Amino acid sequence: MALTDFDLVLFGGSGDLAMRKLLPAMYARDVAKDLPPTARIICVGRHDWSNQDFLQTVEQMSRPHVKGVDEAQWARFTQRIEYVSVNASDVSTYGALVASLRTDEAITRVYYLATPPHLFAQICDNLKAVGLATANSRVVLEKPLGRDLASAKQINAEVGKVFSESQIYRIDHYLGKETVQNLLALRFGNILFEPLWRREWISDVQITIAEKLGVGNRMGYYDTSGALRDMLQNHLLQLLCIVAMEPPSSINPDDVRDSKLQVLRSLKRFTPTTLAQNIVRGQYRAGHVDGKAVPSYRDEPDAPQQSRTETFVAIKAEIDTWRWAGVPFYLRTGKRMADGLAEIVVRFKQIPHSIFNQPTSSFQPNSLVIRLQPDEGLSMNLMAKTPGDSMRLKQAELELDFREQFKAPRMDAYERLLLDVLRGQLTLFMRGDELEAAWEWVEPILNHWEQDDSAPIPYSAGTWGPAAASALIGRDGLQWREEALPED
Ligand code: BG6
Repeated sequence: MALTDFDLVLFGGSGDLAMRKLLPAMYARDVAKDLPPTARIICVGRHDWSNQDFLQTVEQMSRPHVKGVDEAQWARFTQRIEYVSVNASDVSTYGALVASLRTDEAITRVYYLATPPHLFAQICDNLKAVGLATANSRVVLEKPLGRDLASAKQINAEVGKVFSESQIYRIDHYLGKETVQNLLALRFGNILFEPLWRREWISDVQITIAEKLGVGNRMGYYDTSGALRDMLQNHLLQLLCIVAMEPPSSINPDDVRDSKLQVLRSLKRFTPTTLAQNIVRGQYRAGHVDGKAVPSYRDEPDAPQQSRTETFVAIKAEIDTWRWAGVPFYLRTGKRMADGLAEIVVRFKQIPHSIFNQPTSSFQPNSLVIRLQPDEGLSMNLMAKTPGDSMRLKQAELELDFREQFKAPRMDAYERLLLDVLRGQLTLFMRGDELEAAWEWVEPILNHWEQDDSAPIPYSAGTWGPAAASALIGRDGLQWREEALPED
């Protein structure tokens, strides 16, 4: 669908996200000829810069993040960019923005708030006060969307006073990843899986987002957040929703979001006892990643020496529905891990009886591995006969490599999601009630950690986290995927 002309306003326009992700994403869509010729990108920041000063910053900070720049195309792209100096919290400075935006109602307006969340309400109020919150406007909210249930509710309520729910795009960039949408295709574009997608046939589900990177230069934010708020409350729970939701009746935003909401509302609540048993938190210490020595979290630049912020979390979650009762969903994420990957592993149950001269225990239960990154693909483990005259079965793999299968160029998650905002397509964005339901489930964990004097368990950088995470799943007689992989 061709885009109508737009003014895209980036609050936090000189910030890290705009430079690393948003401008490169818009450049890529420009090269792909998705942007109308007169579409504009208005970057808003506090600095008193001229357009020229700002474009220099874009050259230095953003261009290095663009893959394969073409000089002529880059020059054309930067002509779309205008810098406007506004103090987001001071309404008297909004005049410059009013003057720079086009007034034609047919032009879509998007306000992308890549700012700290405490500014969301004020920016919306100010936009309204100066008459910029028009019917043709949309607002995009970047994470973190609050730091607990109360702050998330407050954001929803305050933004909701200015924009209607259908104008609000709460972004979770994991939903823009190609494989996440492929998971929808797999589940609802094939007849094969749905009958098996339930407690009778599935033993457990593992969802892992592991990063080799440490906290880098984001300590100011990260130390007040931690892995639970930074990754689990949003990305991991969104992936869980896509795996576990009931088939929506259509791909329309509210059908999909209703199904996801039902999953979030059906998550079994933790009690103080179940919390201690089902959650492991860790913090990395010095170690080696890819053979390179890396410091402990507490020795990273600006880290508080006694920080108790978790850089790893593993949780056993359960969903109280007929479909999923009794099926554990193990969610895990961490920084400075042994590998950088994101994957979903759906493990099926063991066969009930072996007709072969092999004990049932020698059969690897079938599993479906959905890989989001670093490569995008899907593999299904099956038992197959080995060649020769004896009837011996061994594990074999059916492999679908999305890059091999479909050679079309890939879109980064932000490219996809920005296009969706500009098209007015809300399916891959969280609704306000989903956001609150996710915080509602996570909040008892946060409260418990706050009141508890224990600290995260240390783990060496370059490992799969604390041994307690293996024990968490081991208690159920299971293993994390990397622990169960056959040795070469
Ligand atoms: C962000 C987190 O939302 O996701 C970061 O704030 C994290 O801490 C990042 O590194 C991971 O995203 P991706 O797409 O690189 O897996």
